[in-house]
Amino acid sequence: MFPTHRPRRLRQHPQLRRMVQETLVTQADLIYPLFAVPGSQVAKEVSSMPGVYQLSIDKIVEEAKEVYDLGIPAIILFGIPDDKDTDATGAWHDCGIVQKATTAVKEAVPDLMVIVDTCLCEYTSHGHCGYLEVGDLSGRVLNDPTLELLKKTAVAQANAGADIIAPSGMMDGFVQAIRAGLDESGFEDMPILSYAAKYASAYYGPFRDAAESAPQFGDRRTYQMDPANGTEALKEIELDIAEGADMLMVKPALAYMDIIWRVKQATNLPVAAYNVSGEYAMVKAAALNGWIDEQKVVMETMTSFKRSGADLILTYHAKDVARWLG
Ligand code: PBG
Ligand code: ZN
Repeated sequence: MFPTHRPRRLRQHPQLRRMVQETLVTQADLIYPLFAVPGSQVAKEVSSMPGVYQLSIDKIVEEAKEVYDLGIPAIILFGIPDDKDTDATGAWHDCGIVQKATTAVKEAVPDLMVIVDTCLCEYTSHGHCGYLEVGDLSGRVLNDPTLELLKKTAVAQANAGADIIAPSGMMDGFVQAIRAGLDESGFEDMPILSYAAKYASAYYGPFRDAAESAPQFGDRRTYQMDPANGTEALKEIELDIAEGADMLMVKPALAYMDIIWRVKQATNLPVAAYNVSGEYAMVKAAALNGWIDEQKVVMETMTSFKRSGADLILTYHAKDVARWLG
């Protein structure tokens, strides 16, 4: 009798399919990004990201409550300051927008984990992720002076009540510098989620609208990774682990699932995948045109991230996913 093996046997009933399902997405896997702006009662939709808003702190607090009630354990905060300068003052100042938003959220929703993005690009006048020699238009970020600013930023964020520090600037030694800064200030229990393998990707386009952080000249290819490189991601994670990272991130996610898989195989640390702005925008655009079934496509994508080894997913779809999971 042909065929001898019939894998379809296990697909004949919904309950049986449920029983043999290998990968499960839950609310606990999700991290929701939020963009804080100055002012009050501000909710400005990002044109390239339908459903995503720049929010003033009062609105961030409302949103944080909603996120918590949906069973999502964490948000990640980005900030758009009033003023930008060459020293990224808004990033590390005690009154910086992310510091204020963090304190407000922790006061209102103490059990929601607040992850803070630790980078300078939203706060520098030139939009690069680090310190540039004044007048340098090459975009060649100076590594070690940037580490000092990142250290100050992380300590200010910790002082404001952040639960997890997430450095995203791809500077050499940034985990070590931030770890030292936190430890010196008594935050030895503060976890670091390192954007360990972050690629110089065109998929960040809509985020730069949302965060108003596009570089004014040059690009980020002298610090973010070449999309052609996979082995190099393993080098980056090895360094970050040695420097004391507690969790690792791969970014973007969809076009880099092989990297998620390789990173997960290479470490016993939790791995996060960042389902970035351009990935979100593509799905939203197609869904708004009626070309795809948004819920099915998003759930399939989330499941695939987990199947490829991600333990956590940063996604602008998080609230919808949590609702669909019911
Ligand atoms: C910058 C940063 C970026 C994102 C988060 N932090 C990308 C960049 O502008 O280089 C991208 C997130 C997204 O696209 O959703 N430190
Ligand atoms: Zn940056």
